[in-house]
Amino acid sequence: MTKLSTKHLLGIKELTADDINLILTTAESFKEVINRPIKKVPSLRDITIANLFFENSTRTKLSFELAEKRLSADVVNFSSASSSVKKGETLIDTVNNILAMKVDMVVMRHPNPGAAVFLSKHIDAKIVNAGDGAHEHPTQALLDAFSIKEKLGTIKGKKIAIIGDVLHSRVALSNIFCLQKLGAEVMVCGPTTLMPKYIHSLGVKVEHNLRKALEWCDVANMLRIQLERQDIKYFPSLREYTMLFGLNKELLDSLTKKIIVMHPGPINRGVEITSDVADGSQSIILEQVENGVAVRMAVLFLLAGRV
Ligand code: CP
Repeated sequence: MTKLSTKHLLGIKELTADDINLILTTAESFKEVINRPIKKVPSLRDITIANLFFENSTRTKLSFELAEKRLSADVVNFSSASSSVKKGETLIDTVNNILAMKVDMVVMRHPNPGAAVFLSKHIDAKIVNAGDGAHEHPTQALLDAFSIKEKLGTIKGKKIAIIGDVLHSRVALSNIFCLQKLGAEVMVCGPTTLMPKYIHSLGVKVEHNLRKALEWCDVANMLRIQLERQDIKYFPSLREYTMLFGLNKELLDSLTKKIIVMHPGPINRGVEITSDVADGSQSIILEQVENGVAVRMAVLFLLAGRV
């Protein structure tokens, strides 16, 4: 298989296991490219990509931009904070005006769930969802899967615990879809108030005791508490949350086996994870960031269809 089954990357839910494996295999080649002294290939020469960010981002925005430049694409960047969106321009008008400048692909982050799907029904260009509200963050899940595979050799049969604010997390949903399609067992762990009501329908184990989740898993993916999405109080205090669901070195060292620790970033240091764990030998957080560039190169290359 050399082609994806989809025109866009809107979410992991729409991908097949073959699609995901093709992206991961292609990313392996691009990881080799970005570790060469000359990190650039001409694969997307003459393709123009617009990065549209309607919500803040550090990792995803820079990672996509680097991926595009490493593939020799022409790149334009749009940030809603300094745009005519502030004057009342709609999403479709904004994007159609950008496309009128002969843009071939759109990478979009948006605070509203479903924004990328909505856009795909109204415009012609290929769309990559760079995170839409609490819905999906497909390239994060793909780079997480790539990083787990790189570390453990395979994903099939591995036990992955996703721990923390599952309710507000697009990373959690995309990871669940991705890891299950690749044959992993997935557990979510956190307070009941931070679990979506539909969680059991996703076929994951649900655990509310952090130690039990950590003893069960091969990999713990620690999620950020998304205070900016929390309109009500979901737990009494951050201090209590950290006592019950924060990962610290003492807890990590007391486990019967060595597990891998991941975090999508940005980290609330001292809340969901302490600095000595985030920066410690079991953490692959910066490897995730490095792999993000190779994975995003693979996604853009495959969607452009220049195979
Ligand atoms: N992991 C992630 O999406 O980080 P940013 O919000 O900084 O892009």
